[in-house]
Amino acid sequence: MGRSGEAKALGVSAFVAWFRAAAPYIHAFRGKIFVLAFGGDAMLREDFVDLIYDINLLNALGVRLVLVHGVRPQVEERLTTEAHYVRGRRVTDAEALEHVKDAVGSVRVDIESLLSVGLPNTPMAGADIRVASGNYVTAQPAGVVEGVDLQFTGDVRKIAVAAIRARLDAGEIVLLSPLGYSPTGEVFNLTLEEVATQAAIALCAEKLVFILDHGDSVDARGQRINRVTAAQVPRLLRDLPEGDMKLYLPHAAHACKKGVAKVHLISADVDGAVLMELFTHAGVGTMVTRQSVENLRTAGIDDVGGILSVIEPLETDGILVRRSRERLEQEVERFFVDELDGVIVGCVALYPFPEASAGEMACLAVASQFQGCGRGDALLGAVEDAARELGLTQLFVLTTRTAHWFIERGFALGGPEDLPAPRQAMYNWQRRSKVLVKKLEPS
Ligand SMILES: CC(C)(COP(=O)(O)OP(=O)(O)OC[C@H]1O[C@@H](n2cnc3c(N)ncnc32)[C@H](O)[C@@H]1OP(=O)(O)O)[C@@H](O)C(=O)NCCC(=O)NCCS
Repeated sequence: MGRSGEAKALGVSAFVAWFRAAAPYIHAFRGKIFVLAFGGDAMLREDFVDLIYDINLLNALGVRLVLVHGVRPQVEERLTTEAHYVRGRRVTDAEALEHVKDAVGSVRVDIESLLSVGLPNTPMAGADIRVASGNYVTAQPAGVVEGVDLQFTGDVRKIAVAAIRARLDAGEIVLLSPLGYSPTGEVFNLTLEEVATQAAIALCAEKLVFILDHGDSVDARGQRINRVTAAQVPRLLRDLPEGDMKLYLPHAAHACKKGVAKVHLISADVDGAVLMELFTHAGVGTMVTRQSVENLRTAGIDDVGGILSVIEPLETDGILVRRSRERLEQEVERFFVDELDGVIVGCVALYPFPEASAGEMACLAVASQFQGCGRGDALLGAVEDAARELGLTQLFVLTTRTAHWFIERGFALGGPEDLPAPRQAMYNWQRRSKVLVKKLEPS
């Protein structure tokens, strides 16, 4: 079909309108990590290649992709004895483990091969995708459940975050299998849903997407569930029939509670479902979001212990100036805290100097395991808003090791002479902190 024929077939105005409307999504997704999980059944479908095309498109748009595949039907096909289940988990004995390894190897090669296509007459033309797979998942035995040893059935113990990020930074797609390795040299069979969920949490993924092979993203009455919050999931699960929706929803809720921004559950039966779900407002699947389990708020006296647990390790390292509990108790109202699932994971304080129209931002800290997900930015935003509300026109901060973080966020290097007089008098010349200043534009 010639170019004008193609445009006619699509409906020119609809195509142009749709493409333009996709721009904000493209901007928002570039550089973000998406974890996309699909079961072994997806690969048995004739239209699996369409999912590969959509993965290729996301990759071309700069989304950093981690794929997680399953192997359930491929393993079942190889098993000679009937599988034994305890509480919904299959017991993996030594023989079954060999079948799992065999199936994983074969499925992984098939996926890598499909992602390697670059034929000129396919959407993969010019793709040149690199796929990275390896020992990124550390596992531990699931142990003995109801008196039955699950043997080589395992749980995720750790995700090699830095190694995966390095591959993603190199522009590669990372492919994870439902297998994990233990430091004792053993291999464990995992579920794809656990690998995908733990990977999304550990990588602070923007999105976790589950492709549903069995059943649609509908409720017990067959009506599509467009959007739910993690808190609504337990009630929803009560009436849901067996199927992938029931299987994946608890993992989706868990991922949201642990910080994954959005989880999508999409039926494999809808052509282009991944694109429609991700690039249109209405979507075609179910989107699970975290309710405000994460709460950025002003601190109260009950938060002193939580704040101390965040700042003490940094005080020990000399990054923050030591504050006694008594001083913190007196000044706690100056603090904002970021609370996740009831635990304080970050804090910051604002000390106003109204006579100089300035405010000092102090004690900005995010607990180490929660860093790198934008919480520092959110805390800074809260302080800036509060300072503006007080009519302050500039914000300053004293730091010894974090100057660049502030400079990248609009602060400029100044000196002690830029501090309001009372603060200048207290400047610690031994610590020689750098002074950074930011002008606050009125909102
Ligand atoms: C600075 C801090 C609050 C940022 O929190 P965060 O939640 O990780 O922040 P964000 O997710 O918004 O930003 C992360 C980015 O900051 C960068 N960053 C972290 N520490 C940095 C530093 N000391 N200097 C420069 N950049 C830094 C990270 O590399 C990351 O960059 P990337 O987005 O390019 O990957 C956190 O690293 C922290 O608690 N540090 C120790 C305490 C401290 O230095 N406080 C400031 C003194 S008042």
